[in-house]
Amino acid sequence: MELENKIIVLTGGSSGVGLDLLRRLIGRNTLINLSRSAPPNAEADGSAGFRHIPTDLADPVSVADAIQEIRDSYPDGVDGLINCGAVQFLPQFLAEDFDHSSIATEIAINFTSPAELISGLLDGMLQRPEAFVLNVNSGLGIVPKRESAIYCATKSGLDNLTHGLRAQLADTNVRMQQAFLPLVDTPMTAGRGSGKITSASVADQIIRQIESGKPDLDIGKVKLLRSINRIAPSLANRIMQKGD
Ligand SMILES: NC(=O)c1ccc[n+]([C@@H]2O[C@H](COP(=O)([O-])OP(=O)(O)OC[C@H]3O[C@@H](n4cnc5c(N)ncnc54)[C@H](OP(=O)(O)O)[C@@H]3O)[C@@H](O)[C@H]2O)c1
Repeated sequence: MELENKIIVLTGGSSGVGLDLLRRLIGRNTLINLSRSAPPNAEADGSAGFRHIPTDLADPVSVADAIQEIRDSYPDGVDGLINCGAVQFLPQFLAEDFDHSSIATEIAINFTSPAELISGLLDGMLQRPEAFVLNVNSGLGIVPKRESAIYCATKSGLDNLTHGLRAQLADTNVRMQQAFLPLVDTPMTAGRGSGKITSASVADQIIRQIESGKPDLDIGKVKLLRSINRIAPSLANRIMQKGD
């Protein structure tokens, strides 16, 4: 699918990978961004066809309101949905200050809201000549690390959801796609990790993936991680527990 003159919904366009995706899509498509804060002014100012719907992905009412606003504004449906917005908390279940409520929040943002958005926008997408859903995933959805157990579980769940819906939608015009990212230099990973790749290069690869229709894309070191995990899962696990 050529990403030109399409109507695309993007979550998390205010920062990191989402902001780089927004920069590549804005101006040549109708772009609807869902996040709490608006993307930096320079990105949005003067861009015809850009719209920011302030949305809290942790709040099901806010997500439902955003879906309704999109359905009302684009009754003939949208061409694409990119689920990019997410958080990564570092919950230590044994810690005295562990915040139990963070579990529900992290699951709502990373897993429930993508599922709700797909469900809420699907009948419109089915009306388009062709349409796509691109879920932004992580190497941590393949092999978890101990510091962010809930995050890893949400990404693993997102992978399962993508495969299940891909099977359900196999005979339709809607493609279910997924990009698995390695460590990327964004606010999410500020102050930790090494050997990060840029969000610009990730966004370039995701755009090419959407245009080519490739169902799943492993970016950078994720290719190697998936291979090791296939051959020697315990080694993959050891590598992830040592990493940062
Ligand atoms: N960075 C990495 O190393 C890495 C690695 C693998 C996968 N990923 C994935 O890549 C994607 C982008 O991550 P990133 O690194 O670019 O993160 P980021 O720079 O921290 O950006 C996160 C985005 O999610 C939005 N968001 C967070 N909480 C939200 C909420 N409650 N409601 C609405 N929007 C919310 C933020 O917008 P507001 O704060 O304005 O709401 C922001 O636009 C995520 O799916 C992440 O899991 C990242």
